[in-house]
Amino acid sequence: MTKLAQNRTLNRTSNMDKAVQQLDAQEASTELAELANLLAYHDNLYHAEDAPELSDADYDALRQRNNAIEVRFPELIRADSPSQKVGAEPAKGFKKVIHRVPMLSLDNAFVEDDIKDWLDGVRNFLRELKDPDVIVEIDCEPKIDGLSCSLRYKNGVLVSGATRGSGGVGEDITANVKTISDIPKKLPGEGWPEVLEVRGEVYMTDDGFLKLNAEQEIAGGKIFANPRNAAAGSMRQLDATIAARRPLRFYAYTWGEISAPFATTQWEARAKFKSWGFELNEPSRLVKVSEISLSELVAYYQDIERNRSSLGFSIDGIVLKVNRLDWQNRLGFVSRSPRWATAWKFAPERAQTVINAIECQVGRSGKITPVAHLAPISVGGVLVQRATLHNADEILRKDVRVGDTVMIQRAGDVIPQIIGVLQDARPENSVPYIFPTHCPVCDSLVVREEGDAGSFCTGGLVCAAQVIERLKHFASRDAFDIEGLGEKNIALFYERGLIKTPVDIFTLEDRDGKGIKGGNGASGDTGARVLPPLRVWEGWGETSAAKLFTAIRHAKVISLDRFIYSLGIHQVGQATARLLAKHYLSLSEWRLCMNAAQDPDSEAYANLISINGLGESMVNDILSFIAEPHNSEVLEGLTGGSEPLVTVTDFERPSTLSAVSGKTVVFTGNLDTMSRNEAKAQAEGLGANVAGSVSKKTDFVIVGASAGSKEKKARELNLTILSEAQWLALIKS
Ligand code: IVH
Repeated sequence: MTKLAQNRTLNRTSNMDKAVQQLDAQEASTELAELANLLAYHDNLYHAEDAPELSDADYDALRQRNNAIEVRFPELIRADSPSQKVGAEPAKGFKKVIHRVPMLSLDNAFVEDDIKDWLDGVRNFLRELKDPDVIVEIDCEPKIDGLSCSLRYKNGVLVSGATRGSGGVGEDITANVKTISDIPKKLPGEGWPEVLEVRGEVYMTDDGFLKLNAEQEIAGGKIFANPRNAAAGSMRQLDATIAARRPLRFYAYTWGEISAPFATTQWEARAKFKSWGFELNEPSRLVKVSEISLSELVAYYQDIERNRSSLGFSIDGIVLKVNRLDWQNRLGFVSRSPRWATAWKFAPERAQTVINAIECQVGRSGKITPVAHLAPISVGGVLVQRATLHNADEILRKDVRVGDTVMIQRAGDVIPQIIGVLQDARPENSVPYIFPTHCPVCDSLVVREEGDAGSFCTGGLVCAAQVIERLKHFASRDAFDIEGLGEKNIALFYERGLIKTPVDIFTLEDRDGKGIKGGNGASGDTGARVLPPLRVWEGWGETSAAKLFTAIRHAKVISLDRFIYSLGIHQVGQATARLLAKHYLSLSEWRLCMNAAQDPDSEAYANLISINGLGESMVNDILSFIAEPHNSEVLEGLTGGSEPLVTVTDFERPSTLSAVSGKTVVFTGNLDTMSRNEAKAQAEGLGANVAGSVSKKTDFVIVGASAGSKEKKARELNLTILSEAQWLALIKS
């Protein structure tokens, strides 16, 4: 692997050695930012590229860590947090299917306390459940480890099948689902809605999986790490004859779009599925839970865990769902997961393996992350090959060395963390690991700020790794989306001195073949050569060069949210960029306001920080980015002048028509008819922006009983103040 390629993997350092309880707000915010970037990167590899670099365990560990920090610091939840989105965009090659009802994911719980917190959340949301004597029925089911799938029936006939994809858009796998015998092609009897989307999991039984791998081995084919990968890999084949030959099964457990309700409880819905010929994930149980006792839920969890290996199919936990569907509807969703359900994952699994090497990778911000390369080992069916060592302190604290035998753990059914070194097994000639003092890519000094666990390369724009990571981000699919400008070509153009900043991308065609000098000092290049046109470069031709230039030309018009995201501002992921775009609407307004907001006493600053979803540390990163002269140069270079290189289009509001869509509202005090959480969720559902603090730009302040300073400020600013009844009347109108 080249040094540059190594950089693509784990770019993570800070604080992971600290328990969540020990983090301060600054550390938490930094780590959440890192996790957002890192998980977005791995989501893309997994969903779009089909080439994951992390085991499911590693991946879940990161997500779990992210969630745990967010639970402790809810005010720091980022708009681009991994907890706010489901998966990635659909793979190329399959037709796209828009999910009219999004396919979402489940939040994970790992210990009984998490379940208690989840139920407390349900009780706080639904006012009538405040009474501790009210019993809540919970439908409990095994959590199957497969590939989620949505089946659409029209008048009882199967018309299409789709994967989850990004949650909003999936891949059309109709031909593949039709090969699965568990899936009814025509629903028997009557009683099903005219339009019915049955959702569930395509999976493989343990026997089916073992048999498939044995056959694959004989045929010299791909060996799958676990039944989940085997099921997913089979369904993601464009050639349906492959799926037809694989032992695929289907369990139904929920639904998407329906033209009419067909049940009033989850339990009843399952029974209907059964009567229509679907298989259900059993053993399920309907459990009554009071505020005081979760004992029946715990008993179910323990029963399933105990019998896990005899179920015949692979599960990674249980799923708990509020049984009443009217309550489910009111509880709704929070970003990527329903409030009415949660997954309770099984306990960690451990194994021993050897560290073959420790390598340091350099991220976009220059952060150096040491990564342990392990002798591959299967932990609970998942092949683990790498584990992050987070930072220099972590290595020191655990005294982890190359050649050591280590105990690794996958928590929550995923997760390779190094728990510790087996001292007795340490080779005699072993030496302590020395953290690099210089960047492994550009050789610049590596520094560590006091109080910061992370080490950083000081190379900045001189460090090829950092510049290339930034350019790669700029051209990536969710940013400028320039096909043909992936890591390999960016590194090539950078090394030859053709592209050093984003601006160079858009002047590339003009400069091509016109005697441009190459060389930027990278790779010892002196810059003396005159580069021939791209079409005659090795591995390039007329067509590939023309294709790249066309892709660059097509990318010249970009929406404001993608543009902001493309800049790669620390902590500003897609969702935050969208929030900014939605708030400021045009590039000129955004830049004007960001310049004005440099003064922390300004109205512009107050306005920026009032955006719900933006924390102080994020705001600081945005403002520092703008204040940096070379960043303004790039912004000017791209969008300034009489004929700008790129056109940034204004943000277009989605057309949710309601009296409050696009309005900024603030709730304060105690409401009568519903909990504050339910009120906020409802307002957001109607297209309003719910802000956490009052500013001049607030449209409505909804005041409940015992409101305090926010009401006072609203009066001072002469804002429109509504009582709860007035608000309810407004949203009904
Ligand atoms: S209900 C809104 N029930 O686990 C999502 N999901 O990790 C409702 N899964 O996306 C999903 N077993 O693909 C549900 N009994 C079960 C499940 C189940 C497995 C999958 C599903 C979900 C994922 C979340």
